[in-house]
Amino acid sequence: MLDITIVAFAHHKGGTGKTTSCLNIAGYLQKDGKKVLVVDCDPQANATTGLGIKPETLELSMYDVFMSVFEGFPDITIDDVIVPTASGIDLAPATLDLVGVEPYLYGIEDRAGVLKEALERVKGNYDFILIDTPPSMGQFVINGLVAADHTVVTLDPGTFALRGMEALSTVFDDIRELLGADVVADVAILTRWKGPENQAAEAGGLVLFLKRLFSAGPSAEEEKERERLKAFESEVRKAFRQVFVVPYSPAIYETQQQGLPISHYAPESDAGRRYRAITTAIQELETGRRA
Ligand SMILES: Nc1ncnc2c1ncn2[C@@H]1O[C@H](COP(=O)(O)OP(=O)(O)OP(=O)(O)O)[C@@H](O)[C@H]1O
Ligand SMILES: [Mg+2]
Repeated sequence: MLDITIVAFAHHKGGTGKTTSCLNIAGYLQKDGKKVLVVDCDPQANATTGLGIKPETLELSMYDVFMSVFEGFPDITIDDVIVPTASGIDLAPATLDLVGVEPYLYGIEDRAGVLKEALERVKGNYDFILIDTPPSMGQFVINGLVAADHTVVTLDPGTFALRGMEALSTVFDDIRELLGADVVADVAILTRWKGPENQAAEAGGLVLFLKRLFSAGPSAEEEKERERLKAFESEVRKAFRQVFVVPYSPAIYETQQQGLPISHYAPESDAGRRYRAITTAIQELETGRRA
């Protein structure tokens, strides 16, 4: 019996912090001595570049893994495409070609289980497999959710109420009904969160800080936005068993430019310490037991 935990990062809205969370958690897992594979299932290939790999230099990628299930395409397995990266995390990389896979997938019945099946081959080699998915409701997200034991939902300050979550829940329900597979979405991460304690670190934070210093208090607009985020956060806390908050931090962008997770570049930053704590919680999630 193998102990392996497979985690997908999902939200259909763009830019909510899926890739950032996936890579930074992968980084701390690696630092904890775990064998970690990141699977990039997004044609934008941000997880690939975020780990310092240039998609244009790759001969094989997740495109080939998905296409190998179709007749007439080479028989490439996931172990053929995995590359080591500077941080010690293994990567099954993506390239823009991945866009071409989806229309093919719609033509086959077991389109939702292609990734799960592909991972069978390598899961004996890893303690954790983290799957980054694109901002859509398409086949890559569904493949990620079906393959995963747990789903981490990332939400940013631009998310309005839980209406978006309802759409995601519908996908979870469909998977349950159609495939009999359970989707466990028990962790939410609020990213770039604007709590009162980190407002000065925001872009334009100095201006805001000075404005505060010389004014009677927050403007009515700022107060309204703060109330909205507070209400939203409490809704999220009702919907998920575990909710984590990562503040806005310039260190996030810098680490991505370096092709390294924050654990390997700026572990003492505020965002680094939050991802450290999230990673500890991820390790306490129930392990998927797969023979
Ligand atoms: N805590 C943070 N502080 C500052 N910037 C952040 C933080 N988290 C994420 N970002 C930035 O926000 C942007 C979006 O993050 P990210 O790429 O992780 O989102 P995503 O959900 O993967 O996007 P997509 O939907 O396009 O795949 C990136 O430029 C990233 O550097
Ligand atoms: Mg992304």
